[in-house]
Amino acid sequence: MNDNLDFYKWFDGIAPKLDNREISFRKIFKYLDSQPNPIIIVETGCLRVKDNFLDGQSTLLFDKYTLSRGEKSKVYTVDKDPNSTKICKQTVSDNVEITTDDSVHYLNNLTHNFFTNKTKVSMFYLDSFDLDWRYPYPSAAHHLKELTAITKILHRDTLVVVDDSPAIGNLTQNEHGPAPAWKILKSPAPTIGGKGFLVHEYASHVRAKLVFSHYQVAWNEFNK
Ligand SMILES: C[S@@+](CC[C@H](N)C(=O)[O-])C[C@H]1O[C@@H](n2cnc3c(N)ncnc32)[C@H](O)[C@@H]1O
Repeated sequence: MNDNLDFYKWFDGIAPKLDNREISFRKIFKYLDSQPNPIIIVETGCLRVKDNFLDGQSTLLFDKYTLSRGEKSKVYTVDKDPNSTKICKQTVSDNVEITTDDSVHYLNNLTHNFFTNKTKVSMFYLDSFDLDWRYPYPSAAHHLKELTAITKILHRDTLVVVDDSPAIGNLTQNEHGPAPAWKILKSPAPTIGGKGFLVHEYASHVRAKLVFSHYQVAWNEFNK
């Protein structure tokens, strides 16, 4: 990847495999295009199966993107499973720093170091602790702990993205409407579900800005 055009040529080739995540990954890279070098991406939950785009292959995408940006742009990723970090190491370039650790512990240390040496993070991509769609609390709480660990180093334009967080709403059947006859209830209002649902509650309290909401969700302006 010598430049941005090379990256987008490569990305357009694999984009259809990203399915529901294609639109939000495109928005992520467009957002990063507007950010100055170096692009620093910190990820929790690394690529664990080569070529399995059902998970997202996020580490590979971020690796290719930061290589295309150059000038000390870099990816940091953490995963508690040594098998995941082993596969990840075999798949991405040396420009990705891969650590085997619990993500909250890791982010707490990283925050201390980045605060001390004034490293600015362009984006945090939170995708650890697998989600149980019927009982999202443990995963959502873990991602809220991750946010707690990094709050101190969130700049106004640092993008925070959480995977597996589509909007959810309560539906009722429309008696006379066109098929499919479903209506979203206004009360209780639709919100963010999945891994990011507690991060979204916090984001709403502190008036962070919702940047996009697709299968993945993103905010900035946690700290004004
Ligand atoms: C959904 S996968 C990550 C997929 C990856 N982002 C991709 O797009 O290919 C979730 C990963 O989070 C890891 N994980 C689960 N709990 C964790 C924790 N407490 N700390 C760090 N990693 C964790 C799992 O080992 C797994 O490899």
